[in-house]
Amino acid sequence: VERTPLIAGNWKMNLDHLQAVAFVQKLHWTLKDAKHEDGSVEVAVFPPFTDIRTVQTLLDADKIPFSLGAQDLSTQDSGAYTGEISGAFLSKLDCGYVIIGHSERRQYHGETDEIVAAKVQAALKHGLTPVICVGETLEQREESGPTAVSVAQLEVALASVPADAEIVVAYEPVWAIGTGQVASPEQAQEVCAALREVIASKLGDEAAARTRVLYGGSVKAANIASFMREPDVDGALVGGASLVVDEFAAIVRYQK
Ligand code: G3H
Repeated sequence: VERTPLIAGNWKMNLDHLQAVAFVQKLHWTLKDAKHEDGSVEVAVFPPFTDIRTVQTLLDADKIPFSLGAQDLSTQDSGAYTGEISGAFLSKLDCGYVIIGHSERRQYHGETDEIVAAKVQAALKHGLTPVICVGETLEQREESGPTAVSVAQLEVALASVPADAEIVVAYEPVWAIGTGQVASPEQAQEVCAALREVIASKLGDEAAARTRVLYGGSVKAANIASFMREPDVDGALVGGASLVVDEFAAIVRYQK
């Protein structure tokens, strides 16, 4: 099975809706004739909620071939949940993706594996592809090895997912996020392969073969190719470097 590489830019809490317009336009022009135009790489942007309507309109009006996603969603469909955003709202804004269980949400907003699993269900219910994030802290790596935490997190997240669901999994070691302390390609491969085995055991071999598993954590233009050469790494979830047009464009243009 051919898996289309996915280069995803998680903007986190950066770029307001006016800055987003300038950024997306500039990125589009910088990527003219890049390989995402023939579909051999997929580029996705994950702006803050307040930008999504604006970015949707821009992608549509200028026929810009980027996919669009949100950084979180509610477990609920609608109702008295002040401050929450429903998957139903996101799918109406042409969001194809939603990041779920990012370590910053787990760390600062108390998201447990059970909440992550409920959010995965909410995303699938509304036709969104969940980008399920897992990863260990340095302490956990030293205590239980490189794969145990990520495997356990993904097992809970996939508990009630049907075999034919479209999902994306992102391995993001907490110690590599925003630290410049990037994982080695071998470390990324080891955990991504273990996560693919979890997909196989929960959803079957067909799902494991077609599901994209990303690496995230201090990805830059200078190191993307080394990850993409690994057999079980199908793309990257990029934070800081996704906010710099030339850097992100160079990541998209990686050559193996
Ligand atoms: O979602 C993205 C990750 O948290 C990686 O962030 O590229 O700034 O290390 P980073």
